[in-house]
Order: sequence, then C-alpha cells, then structure tokens
Amino acid sequence: MQKLLFTGASGFLGYCLDQFPSSFQLHGTYLNHAGNLKQIQLHQLDIRSTKAFSTLIDRIKPNAVIHAAALSKPAFCEMNIDASLEVNVDATARIAKCCQQHAIPFVFTSTDQVFSGKKEIYHETDIPDPIHVYGTHKYEAEKQVQAIMPNAIIARLPLLFGLSPASIPNFLGEWIKKLSNKEQVFAFTDERRTPLYGLEAIRALFLLLNKEGKGIYHLGTERPISRYEKGLMICDAFKLDASYLIPTKLADYKGKVPRVPNASLDISRLKSLGFIPTSLSASLNECAKQPIQLI
Ligand SMILES: NC(=O)c1ccc[n+]([C@@H]2O[C@H](COP(=O)([O-])OP(=O)(O)OC[C@H]3O[C@@H](n4cnc5c(N)ncnc54)[C@H](OP(=O)(O)O)[C@@H]3O)[C@@H](O)[C@H]2O)c1
Repeated sequence: MQKLLFTGASGFLGYCLDQFPSSFQLHGTYLNHAGNLKQIQLHQLDIRSTKAFSTLIDRIKPNAVIHAAALSKPAFCEMNIDASLEVNVDATARIAKCCQQHAIPFVFTSTDQVFSGKKEIYHETDIPDPIHVYGTHKYEAEKQVQAIMPNAIIARLPLLFGLSPASIPNFLGEWIKKLSNKEQVFAFTDERRTPLYGLEAIRALFLLLNKEGKGIYHLGTERPISRYEKGLMICDAFKLDASYLIPTKLADYKGKVPRVPNASLDISRLKSLGFIPTSLSASLNECAKQPIQLI
C-alpha cells in the first residue's frame, strides 16, 4: 500500500484528510495537539528542527508528502514575523529539499492570501503581490519550493470550511454556534472569496497527486461570493435565523492586519485535470448532514 505523509495533520486540513476515504496508508505529524484521529497514524514533529523531518522520512519512506504544517493565522504572523519566517519559509524550504533528495512527490499548501485582492479573479499566471506578513511568507515559500523542486505541486487554497471539533477551530462552527445562540455575526459584503469545503480540498489534492500535477494550481469553488452571501447560504443550509447576520463594509474594519478584498481564485487549470467542482450550496448541504455535536 502506498504511504502518504501529511505534515500538520493536527490542523483543520488534517482533520478533513482523516474524514476522507483514502487508498493511501496515512501518516501525519503534529506539534502540540496529538488529537484523536481515526485513519492517520500520528508522529510528533517540529518542522523547525533540521534533522527531524529527514529522520521521519527515513523511518516512514512515504510515496508522497503533503506539507500543510504552518503558522496559518495572519494576525499571529503579523505580530511574530521571525516565527512565521522560520516555520512558513525556512522549514518549508528544508522539507522541499529533503523530498527532492529522496525523489518524493511533494505538495505545498499555499494560500489565496499571496494576492493583494485588487483584481476580480486570480489565475495561476498572475504575479502575487501580498499585503501582509503571512501572504508574503507563503509567497516566498512558493518561490523557494519551485527553485528547489521544479516538479513540486503548489496548491493555493482558498478559505476552507467544514465542521470540526472545538479544538480544531473553523469559522463555520464558530458562526453556527453564534447564530444558534442568537448572537450577531458581522460579515463583509465587499470581501469576496471562492471558499471550499475541506473535504473537497482533500479530493483536489489527491487528484493533483494521482494526475502527477506540476507547478501552481488554484483550488476553490467556481463562483466568487462575499462573506455576507456565504453567511446567508450557511443560514439556509443549517436552518439558522439570518437576521443575526449583519452586513458590514470593509471600510468599517478596524483590525491591524490588512484585509484582502478579493481573493477569488480561477480553477480552470485544476478542472483541466478532471476536477469536477461541487457547488458551494451542495457542499454546505452535505456538511449540514454531519452530526452537530462535532462542532
Ligand atoms: N484553513 C484555511 O482556510 C486555509 C486557507 C488557505 C491556506 N491554508 C493553508 O493550508 C495549510 C493547512 O491549514 P490548516 O487550516 O489545517 O492550518 P491549522 O489548522 O492552523 O494547522 C496548522 C498545523 O501546523 C502545525 N504546526 C505549526 N507549527 C509547527 C511546527 N513548528 N512544526 C510542526 N508542525 C507545526 C500545527 O500543529 P499543532 O496544532 O499540533 O501544534 C497544525 O497541525 C496551511 O499551510 C495553511 O497556510 C489554509
């Protein structure tokens, strides 16, 4: 049986991988949260340690690596620039180098946040122009991965959603909790994305590996929507009272990290490999069938 090593398996995307039917024997890494996964065999790894990853590779001998471990919160990266550089750039480059030396197919999970958000829709050929530390470091990591391993897959992920345990937070669970408790949720009407169900992201990553993709691929749903529109769809799928969803403008945003107004990703390249996207409403309806105690 082929083996897949997934770094950052204790995070949200790793939780989605654990839910997905897979023909791989799954190995994953965690740093602080060992968690309770069903399918993935977990190994502790600090990707900042130069030797730890190559030792793990020698032990597991994976047929492919998906590198998802990251400091993934833009606000944290903005306040902790050195830590973000160390984890998101330097460690990623070392992992890519190790996979190159062992000739292991390698997928790096990047982000739509490499773009400034000034364009209506972004293609893989658009040059990134990040506006915050997280986006800058993910873009720097992309460039280093490409230089080290030209055949690597760089999967730019959009905003992901899905139900997950409280210890693995995702905005969907947080919004559902608040709206169910009749608390207000503020949602921008002028910030657009192509959000993707976490299980769909895993389906796309497996397709990229199976089809031996190379280079940059955008993942996402087909139709860009605002956070507010997405909130209305969530209310519809989960039968929640939409009057607690409050439309807001980006001009009212008071946070410290600059916001990307439009990070919509064009997914034609992924579709050309045979990916048939599921609509956002179908994904939300599928998600709503899960037992609610998962949240
Ligand atoms: N979720 C999204 O909406 C989204 C959107 C675009 C791109 N992405 C990208 O997709 C990937 C997965 O995202 P996610 O949402 O699953 O992230 P996440 O929930 O924040 O999980 C991050 C993972 O990285 C691990 N990690 C952090 N520092 C580490 C270190 N020094 N050594 C080893 N492991 C470390 C964490 O381990 P512990 O928890 O055990 O400490 C955790 O497993 C990331 O690369 C992210 O940038 C995510």
